[in-house]
Amino acid sequence: MTLDPSIKIAPSILSADFANFGAEIRAIEAQGADWVHVDVMDGHFVPNLTFGPPAVKAFRPHVKTVMDVHLMIAPVDPYIDAYAEAGADILTAHLEAGPHIHRTLQAIRAAGMKAGVALNPGTPAEAVAQLLDLADLVCVMTVNPGFGGQKFIDMSEKVRALRRMIGDRPVHIEIDGGVDPSTAPRLAEAGADVLVAGSAVFRGGSVDNPAPYGENIRAIRAAARGALAA
Ligand code: DX5
Ligand code: ZN
Repeated sequence: MTLDPSIKIAPSILSADFANFGAEIRAIEAQGADWVHVDVMDGHFVPNLTFGPPAVKAFRPHVKTVMDVHLMIAPVDPYIDAYAEAGADILTAHLEAGPHIHRTLQAIRAAGMKAGVALNPGTPAEAVAQLLDLADLVCVMTVNPGFGGQKFIDMSEKVRALRRMIGDRPVHIEIDGGVDPSTAPRLAEAGADVLVAGSAVFRGGSVDNPAPYGENIRAIRAAARGALAA
């Protein structure tokens, strides 16, 4: 398997209109989103609640690209089959969510999905050293998870260390939190290829006025590509 090294922009629907997810997903894809990032929060692992498997299943028919499901829940394992059934393409669990992340990643792949492991800002790159053959994606959190619109925490050095550790394995590095055209370049330059963005994509637009979504997506992509070309 080879990895697509191009920059992918993954809008987080945490910043969408919660009464209108289907139309919001269709709008961001029409405006150039590469993946759709779906933030699942349980009010326990993180201090906020969003939605669970039935909602994610309802999103599925609207997603024509890649449904990238980020679980901010603990425990994870009892819900893996439900997210497979809901149609997740990638299922990402937090390393900090329990003592058995190795088992969790195996179980996600066994359920037919790509497996991601997410790292809170306080968790070092080295924590995934034994997991890189079990993971398709490492998500580097650049905020403490739980809310959109938080201040960016620079994790460029962690990204650089991870890209070095990953070597030629086909593993994506995804960045989540505070990504915008000003923070994207240093992350792309350090080796990230998937940029999640909530507020920086949805700001200024709506399903009735989706053009700003496209402008925002293109601005982030151009900033990231600019750093690679430099
Ligand atoms: C935070 C979520 C993020 C969030 C990013 O816990 O995992 O996906 O939506 O939002 P912004 O881009 O606004 O920081
Ligand atoms: Zn997320």
